[in-house]
Amino acid sequence: MRKKIVAGNWKMNMTYDEGQKLTSEIVNMYKDEAIKDVIAVLNPPFPHLFPVKKLIGDTPGIFLGAQNCSDKESGAFTGEVSAKILASFGANYVILGHSERREYFKESNDLLTAKVKQALANGLTPIFCCGESLEIRMAGTHEANVKFQLTESLFDLSPEDFSKVVIAYEPIWAIGTGKTATADQAQEMHLALRRHIASKYGKDIANATSILYGGSANPGNAKELFSKPDVDGGLIGGASLKSRDFIEIIKSF
Ligand code: G3H
Repeated sequence: MRKKIVAGNWKMNMTYDEGQKLTSEIVNMYKDEAIKDVIAVLNPPFPHLFPVKKLIGDTPGIFLGAQNCSDKESGAFTGEVSAKILASFGANYVILGHSERREYFKESNDLLTAKVKQALANGLTPIFCCGESLEIRMAGTHEANVKFQLTESLFDLSPEDFSKVVIAYEPIWAIGTGKTATADQAQEMHLALRRHIASKYGKDIANATSILYGGSANPGNAKELFSKPDVDGGLIGGASLKSRDFIEIIKSF
């Protein structure tokens, strides 16, 4: 049985007070509404990690994640944050390869391999993002493009390491645009990715890999997306900044 995961990516939003309020509300609703079997991951900006972790406490089912980590282990890399530091502050997950990191910070497939390895070496679960631009979708090469991202960044991992990775498919044209991929488009890509994983690591690992959908997911479309057999959850941007919306998305399973 695959893990169902809904991860909230706050991106560069939320002051300290706003982040505390949002987290408290999410934790309380998650507990009060007796949510089970769906893992919630909160991925705030770095300074929030420790205070958010304190609010999460030992709530079963809610975990802390970061939005990035360094490809280096430690040392003189001003402004960087290592996977080891993140783990020491209680993070369990880290988003890697988000299209915004790839585009604005020129993160390459090779750099992402190093980041994934750092994450795994420090006990963090990478949420590895992949996805195509609108141009690539229009050209019809989206499947090949997304498979290539996985091959280049992840297929050097041992089967044991790969089985610890969570994949997030995020079509770039759907991120923050209000234009969600249809549930059928998401399913089609998730199935293609699962088959691609199976071709390298075998069916058992492929069937155990959680593949999340990201891109304008909201309480109105999550149910249909999550009803698809290969969609195992979501990586949520905008809607994760509103506690009620985030909880409703989690409850859409
Ligand atoms: O990491 C989250 C994704 O980029 C989706 O963002 O839900 O605001 O479209 P969005």
